[in-house]
Amino acid sequence: MIKKCLFPAAGYGTRFLPATKSMPKEMLPIVNKPLIEFAVEEAQAAGISQMAIVTGRGKRALEDHFDISYELEHQIQNTEKEKYLVDIRRLIDECTFIYTRQVEMKGLGHAILTGQSMIGDEPFAVALADDLCINQGGDPVLAQMVKLYNQFRCSIVAVQEVPRDQTHKYGVIAGEELRDDLFRVSTMVEKPKPEDAPSNLAIIGRYILTPDIFDILKNTPPGKGGEIQITDALQQQAKDGCVIAYKFKGQRFDCGSAEGYVEATNYCFEHIYKAL
Ligand code: UTP
Repeated sequence: MIKKCLFPAAGYGTRFLPATKSMPKEMLPIVNKPLIEFAVEEAQAAGISQMAIVTGRGKRALEDHFDISYELEHQIQNTEKEKYLVDIRRLIDECTFIYTRQVEMKGLGHAILTGQSMIGDEPFAVALADDLCINQGGDPVLAQMVKLYNQFRCSIVAVQEVPRDQTHKYGVIAGEELRDDLFRVSTMVEKPKPEDAPSNLAIIGRYILTPDIFDILKNTPPGKGGEIQITDALQQQAKDGCVIAYKFKGQRFDCGSAEGYVEATNYCFEHIYKAL
């Protein structure tokens, strides 16, 4: 059973400055809903109710978002605007939220290691809120991955095919094809140049990790960009055949970039917001 989801949300979000100067990137709205709320909803739809968020300085808005706002709620009670708070109230009622701060931003791997005290010794999901994943009419991506975890009982990474000239933005995998959408990973390279990429299958911001990853991360030296990379730690698990890469069903928008953010906004306005 996967009961907890970790949300690394401590990054500086420099690509969205000045918007992210005093506001967390994860609070950027896609129309009227912040990225972090989409990610928490996705985790909940996968049967997860314990949300563990790794925050940092200037990220307090994340905690306030998953809390009651008495004055505001009283103000709009019994008006037609109440409907806008239904989704977030449901999350607050049905999930628990815990937080810890990453004091130094030493990379995604380090952020995940910072979450160890909230996760303990059990397998867990990881969702990067700036990757917005939508699978309308089907299982959300984390739910698809939890099903696979129950089958394979090892770490699962979500991958998608990217153009060769984009591999330098991702961790890229190679492995044995088990099914047209499943690979047993043998190699992972962080942000390779196109000529060094072992494939065009790029890891996106959804993972299921087994808890041995924490000990591996403790012994993982800084890699690309001087940061502790989750890809380097996963490479250790892959050596033992313990990482499955999954070509998920659905769409993923890279909301850490302006292009992806605009695409996500247009998509959600047409397909989700207008249907409200
Ligand atoms: P990014 O590589 O997108 O970095 O991190 P960033 O700082 O958020 O954004 P840019 O590149 O400066 O614009 C991927 C994810 O890992 C988290 C981020 O919050 C984001 O969800 N992260 C990254 C941490 O939590 N801590 C870190 O030290 C680094």
